[in-house]
Amino acid sequence: MTPAEIEQVIRRAGLAPSLHNTQPWRFRILPQMIELHYDPARRLPVADPAGRELRLACGAALFNLRLALESAGIRPNVALLPHLAGPTALAEIRSGGHAAPRPETLRLHAAIPQRHSHRAPFRNVPVPTTERNDMLLAAQAEQCWLHLVTPGELGTLEGLVHRAHRVQEADSRFRAELAAWTGRPGDALEGVPTSAAGPRPGPQDQWVHRDFSAGVSPRPEGVEYESHPLLVVLCTHQESPYAELQAGQAVQNVWLTATARGLAASMISEVIEVRDTRDELRHLLGGTLHPQALLRIGYGGPTVPAPRRAIDDLILE
Ligand SMILES: Cc1cc2nc3c(=O)[nH]c(=O)nc-3n(C[C@H](O)[C@H](O)[C@H](O)COP(=O)(O)O)c2cc1C
Repeated sequence: MTPAEIEQVIRRAGLAPSLHNTQPWRFRILPQMIELHYDPARRLPVADPAGRELRLACGAALFNLRLALESAGIRPNVALLPHLAGPTALAEIRSGGHAAPRPETLRLHAAIPQRHSHRAPFRNVPVPTTERNDMLLAAQAEQCWLHLVTPGELGTLEGLVHRAHRVQEADSRFRAELAAWTGRPGDALEGVPTSAAGPRPGPQDQWVHRDFSAGVSPRPEGVEYESHPLLVVLCTHQESPYAELQAGQAVQNVWLTATARGLAASMISEVIEVRDTRDELRHLLGGTLHPQALLRIGYGGPTVPAPRRAIDDLILE
């Protein structure tokens, strides 16, 4: 690949979602491979003490990187958690030869710059069965499981999300961490800009509680959330760093599959970040799977992209 092609691949990887838009990934470009590393300085110690969400974000970046290589006709051979590449290495990606990209690969690749967190209300239009099935298959392709929340589970789940939100809001360290990553100046290259925050959450809202408005964007009149969003829980079969990297790739496959079909999504992470509610969610789902991400999916309006760091900042020498 030419340096310009490699830069394009890294740029696509960097469009992945990350907790508070921390973008905790770095890449080392070697003649025979690309290494994916995490940046320890970009882990959020309060919301993500174990680095689970950092690995999810890096897994999502890895999925984008795989798509970008496949779209360029290169089959990526990925080794997760390579031991010899240093303590921050999460993956090594080598060329496994050439192959013409599948149409679905090109479709997902084209969806990468279209995918943004959609925190505003969705339209009250149900997600069709075909789209649901496509998302299930997208999760399974990454050795994960997508649980579609049933009407019978909604009440309990809503209670758990509310409880997790209250626990975090009561923690001044959590509030300070969130404040540090929101309401940054317009030219900031990281953090969640108020333009992408969505309406300021109110106590009547069922699912969207985390407030990225930094106190500056008022809630417009008449904002009402959809009555029946599709809620999905991305689960792994194991609980380990390896499984979390799989989960990140699966989240991104599901989210891009949704985006390519005209759907939008936002993540609702408090219920998984708080250990007690995460355990109760696991129990609600039958006790065998490990919940890694809760997403709300539906048909939305226009979204604003969150900023991204410059490519040079992402490259490890
Ligand atoms: C592990 C993880 C957890 C996240 N949790 C939340 C969340 O609880 N609420 C939310 O609105 N966005 C959440 N996000 C979305 C990020 O805020 C978002 O990806 C980031 O700001 C970049 O914006 P983009 O998704 O529009 O590219 C999460 C993303 C990741 C990867």
